[in-house]
Amino acid sequence: MFIWEPTISTPILYFASDHAGFFLKGDLLKYGKKRGYDVVDLGTDSENSVDYPDYAQAVAQKLEGDPNAIGILICGTGIGMSIAANRFPWIRAAVCHENLKLTKLARAHNHANVLCLGARFIDSPHAKKVLETFLNTPFEDGRHTTRVTKLS
Ligand code: RB5
Repeated sequence: MFIWEPTISTPILYFASDHAGFFLKGDLLKYGKKRGYDVVDLGTDSENSVDYPDYAQAVAQKLEGDPNAIGILICGTGIGMSIAANRFPWIRAAVCHENLKLTKLARAHNHANVLCLGARFIDSPHAKKVLETFLNTPFEDGRHTTRVTKLS
């Protein structure tokens, strides 16, 4: 069962991508580190073709039981990663592109704990803005807690 707990410390960021997201993952890892976050790279480590569900699973496993952890999953579209990650009951993965309002709502209303990005649809400067918005937007709690509880 999902239990809402306020974030009390800086979250650890778990990153993973498939081959399509490999370069954007590198950019965002550096960005996260520069902003003072603890970052963990769960692969992939090259542009060689891999299967995105394996990487979504790796991030999902790290987030189990850790309400303070955030996942960042990158594939070509963000869609495959989000479908794969959302198979785990404790994961609330949202595909966010350049629309920062949607990114904010994914956090404020849906309490998303995984950000999914499509490297073939967003450039690095925009992706950094989306990541920053995602990390800086708190969950609004209140009526949303009842709804989010029903997701798991
Ligand atoms: C890989 O070519 C591509 O299918 C994958 O990155 C992703 O976009 C799937 O959703």
